[in-house]
Amino acid sequence: MKNIVLIGFMGTGKTVVGRRLARRLKREFIDTDAEIEKLMGKTVAQIFARDGVVRFRSEEELLVKKLAKREDLVIATGGGMVLNTENLLLLKENGILVALTASPEIIYDRVRGNKNRPLLMHGDMMEKIRELLQERENAYKAAEITVDTGNSSIVEIVEQIT
Ligand code: S3P
Repeated sequence: MKNIVLIGFMGTGKTVVGRRLARRLKREFIDTDAEIEKLMGKTVAQIFARDGVVRFRSEEELLVKKLAKREDLVIATGGGMVLNTENLLLLKENGILVALTASPEIIYDRVRGNKNRPLLMHGDMMEKIRELLQERENAYKAAEITVDTGNSSIVEIVEQIT
C-alpha cells in the first residue's frame, strides 16, 4: 500500500498525528527529523549550528530518496522538506500526501518552548512564523488531503485522514 506522508509547517502536529495514525493502521512510523538525528548523532539544532542548513537539507533529500522506494509507511516530514520539489514528487509517486495546517497563533503556542527549531530561534518568533508560512503556503498545497489541526483532537484528526 502507498505510504502516507505528512507534510506541513513546524508545530502542525506531524509527529504526534503520524505516530497515532501509524499505530491505528498498524504501519511502521518514520519521522524524518528523528531519523536524521539518529544518523548524525546530533539534534536538529546541533546539525544546523555545526554543519549548516545545506547539510541538513542534503541529509533530508538522501533519506526521502530511500523512503520513497518503500511502502506501507506513515512518514512525518520536516516542515521544510517541501522546499525541494524533487522530494515532493518522489514521495507523491508512491504515497498519499496529507498536509496538516494550523494558524500562526496556534503554531506559536506549540513551538515557543521548544529549543530544537533552529529556524525560529533568531529574532521575533511570531514574525518568522508568518514569514515562513507565507513563503511555503503554496508548497503545502501539493497535498491531496488537508487537515486543520487547530481545533480538533488527535483522534479526530486521525479519523479525518483514514
Ligand atoms: C524545519 C522544520 C523542522 C526541522 C528543521 C527545519 C523547517 O521539522 O526539519 O528544523 O524548515 O520548517 P518540524 O516541522 O518537524 O519541526
